Amino acid sequence: MCGIVGYIGKKDATPILLSSLKRLEYRGYDSCGVGVVAQKDGKIHSKKTQGKIQGLTDILKDKPMPTGFVGISHTRWATHGKPTKANAHPHADKTGKILIVHNGIIENYQEIKEALKAKGYPFVSETDSEVIAHLISSLDKGDLLEAVQKAIQKLNGSFALGVISSDHPDKLIAARLGSPLIIGVGCNENFIASDVPAILDRTRKIVYLRDGEVAELQKSSLKIFDFKGKQIKPKVHTVAFKLDAVQKEGFSHFMLKEIHEQPKVLSGMLSSRIKNKKVHLEGLSLTDKQLKGINHVFVVACGTAYHAGLVGKYVIEQLAGVPVSIDVSSEFRYRTPIINKKTLIVAVSQSGETADTLAAVREAKLKGCKVISICNVVGSSLARESHGVLYTHAGPEIGVASTKAYTAQLCMMYLLGLKLGVLKKKISKGRSESLIKDLKRVPSFLMMILKSKAKIRKIARANSHFGCFLFLGRNINFPSALEGALKLKEISYIPAEGYAAGEMKHGPIALIDEYRAVVCVTPEADTYEKMISNMQEIRARKGKIIAIATEGDTAIKQHANNIIYIPSTNKLLTPLVVALPLQLIAYYIAVERGNDVDQPRNLAKSVTVE
Ligand code: F6R
Repeated sequence: MCGIVGYIGKKDATPILLSSLKRLEYRGYDSCGVGVVAQKDGKIHSKKTQGKIQGLTDILKDKPMPTGFVGISHTRWATHGKPTKANAHPHADKTGKILIVHNGIIENYQEIKEALKAKGYPFVSETDSEVIAHLISSLDKGDLLEAVQKAIQKLNGSFALGVISSDHPDKLIAARLGSPLIIGVGCNENFIASDVPAILDRTRKIVYLRDGEVAELQKSSLKIFDFKGKQIKPKVHTVAFKLDAVQKEGFSHFMLKEIHEQPKVLSGMLSSRIKNKKVHLEGLSLTDKQLKGINHVFVVACGTAYHAGLVGKYVIEQLAGVPVSIDVSSEFRYRTPIINKKTLIVAVSQSGETADTLAAVREAKLKGCKVISICNVVGSSLARESHGVLYTHAGPEIGVASTKAYTAQLCMMYLLGLKLGVLKKKISKGRSESLIKDLKRVPSFLMMILKSKAKIRKIARANSHFGCFLFLGRNINFPSALEGALKLKEISYIPAEGYAAGEMKHGPIALIDEYRAVVCVTPEADTYEKMISNMQEIRARKGKIIAIATEGDTAIKQHANNIIYIPSTNKLLTPLVVALPLQLIAYYIAVERGNDVDQPRNLAKSVTVE
């Protein structure tokens, strides 16, 4: 999704804006731009380009931007209009005095555009965002904050906004409704950004702007107002994670670094959430009595988080005996789910800013449900809007393809299942303690798999030429197959389907021939023999099989072309262990095909629009 960075202070804005904007590259974008109020002539200057920030930097090397102490910058992920220079941000008003950057979607832009055109405002782009610059200009009576406040009253949709004006070189205005925006508080300088990593090398003091708030930043002051103009005291948070967390630290890609971080993330989560052999879910905000009263869990999530939710369904139903429903958030909100006060909504999201998941949560709250979220980003919209939040604390996830956030979400599902199971007396203390013991061994299993990554790379390379992949799994590893396929298609662009293996004969078997590869997730399981039958059916049709199997399973050799072994673990916990080899298969195939692994085409890290 689009990224915003703004600066006001005593230093030259452009280099700061460009280096901070680069830290938002992971969000995905197709054009970019920067604008400042120049010190030399007091005018607005801006440069934009289609393509990467490096291209913009090259343009600025040839024609440097004049020094300016206030500026805004943007990476655009095209929604309205192609990824062209004209559609890139910042957008100026007709006087060329006001410059804006915008994330989100203005739903009534056409109507506003027609009205402004009739008044003689010229439009040079196809974007919805350009109306904001002209609208502010049309309402500007000399007070920029007031003009922005009036303009946003007229906008329907979602926005994070940064605004500067040559009439007010001492001000940077920001506003937020439905799209993330944070403020960085520095010493004689202040920042706005779409996400914390952008400005982490400048300041750790962060104010999370909330929906319906407007901020006026000056170099040494910050004022926040609600949309009605009432002033609000800013709450400054100090961000805990270090700069290393947003750097590659010697890894060739963030995705590979994040895959390697999983043992540490899981052991950190387990040691903070398990005390005296019991699960502690601080942040849940529900009493034991309330938890016992729950008779239905409903998970809402998108993409990878949805797959974590699917595993959660198997886990919670098995451990707690509570029926679990699950919807992708975009479906939940447009149908009539059967939910009531006894339904616990579990919203799963790495970013906590996914528009569909937020909308699903709002819908459920209207129906009186309690909502808890499993979320990675502290202070995100989802965390704030849920009654309780279980933070995964996996650290910033920069690679667009989710890896460590997924296994952290899975781990939280096990902890939630255990908590509910014990409270509802569905599992004994002994079973809970033994599962906790098994869970604690998972990080070391992941380390063992990482040690065999050279072999996984070899297998991935040998199979990278296949034009189509099928991923099969059964029972609790059916979601693992879905996740393996999603990872592969996201970063390798190879068509990949995930299926419950039992469904193979109902259609996908038609795909199988010597040109297809099939990844069979086949760890120790009650359905192991059934998976073997599926593998035989694939071999009979000359399909090539990569099996993920349990160490010691020699029998599988006669069925698979390649085998990736995982350590033997509790059957219920296998999704946590098979995730890592599936991620590595996708990673190495994408690298072999020369793809931009961290920023796959067309994808955005957090999907803040519908
Ligand atoms: C896949 C991936 C996406 C996200 C989805 C939800 O690797 O990252 O499918 O899982 O966009 O995002 P969050 O978890 O931020 O709500």
